[in-house]
Amino acid sequence: MQDKSINILGIETSCDETAAAVVADGRIVKSSVIASQTKLHEKYGGVVPEIASRAHIEKIYPVIAEAMAQAQTSKDDINAIAIANQPGLTVALVVGVTAAKTLSFAWDKPLIAINHLHAHLQSAMLSEENLQLPAVALIVSGGHTCLYDYRSPLEPELLGSTIDDAAGEAFDKVATILRLPYPGGPSIEETAAKGNPNAIKFPRSMLGSDSLDFSFSGIKTAVLYYCRGQDMKGEDRVDSMSAQQIADIAASFQAAVIDVLIKKTQRAAEKIGAKTILLGGGVAANNQLRTALQQMCESAEPPKKLLIAPKQYCTDNAVMVASLAYHKFKAGLFADLTLDPKASSS
Ligand code: KG4
Ligand code: ZN
Repeated sequence: MQDKSINILGIETSCDETAAAVVADGRIVKSSVIASQTKLHEKYGGVVPEIASRAHIEKIYPVIAEAMAQAQTSKDDINAIAIANQPGLTVALVVGVTAAKTLSFAWDKPLIAINHLHAHLQSAMLSEENLQLPAVALIVSGGHTCLYDYRSPLEPELLGSTIDDAAGEAFDKVATILRLPYPGGPSIEETAAKGNPNAIKFPRSMLGSDSLDFSFSGIKTAVLYYCRGQDMKGEDRVDSMSAQQIADIAASFQAAVIDVLIKKTQRAAEKIGAKTILLGGGVAANNQLRTALQQMCESAEPPKKLLIAPKQYCTDNAVMVASLAYHKFKAGLFADLTLDPKASSS
């Protein structure tokens, strides 16, 4: 019998994960395959674009073939190919975009272009049937920190974003300062669990009383000064610090970043009268952030519903791409073979 659901093959190569997934009707995950490049970038302490691009080229077709096999789906059952074509590293995006365009042409399937950040937001809603609107969505990743006014999957309205470093970038850079392993977010979280979040009062940059933008470069610099002295001429004290001192710095840094994320989300929720808060992006895997946002939602008047992306869909994946594409499919919003990758969001 023919499969009557709408099956979308999603592809994601915006940074350092080569991912493909088959999702039915926007929420039934038939397969999700992710080839992570963490090991390749580890020794550089960050993603090296050319290495990422080469690894995507090697992995893209095996990952797509695996996603199709795991979903037990043939190309005949696929209704569209979805690709995250922005924002991200151009040399990485181009690999997924080329693969998606090739499959779209060879299989004669429509092509759907997806904004990677809007897809992150979608991953918070995978299991939600009855979303109460309006919602404020907080997307915190390695490349972006954004607040959206969310009223429909197709046009989330940007309320504010970072004016310098993204939250995940700050975690990664502070982990490097503290000599913690890459990727920094999970290392900081693990180390912070043994530290005192009130040990050091790092700055909380709020950028004015009604701003919904973020700035995290100041706190990163504050950690650096704390470790090297105000004039940066002092000896780097990290190597001589005790494990407890490192844990206290990690915990105090994490608390300051979370404090700002929560206050700004609360500010945005008040501004638009949000009934629901959505949380997604790599940093959404952080347990302290998840708990703090839960507390904020419970203590709000009236309380707000909180939807957080399941942990396996917080960091980059293709399920979120295929899930969002379902809404574009239903709205008839298709791309053509002139689709290009774009480094920044439009
Ligand atoms: O969404 P994502 O996979 O990639 C981008 O689109 O950027 O996010 C990756 C970011 C990295 O900066 C990583 O350090 C951070 O998410 N991250 C975390 C945690 N897990 C990943 N940050 C804080 N706590 C975590 N548990
Ligand atoms: Zn991402």
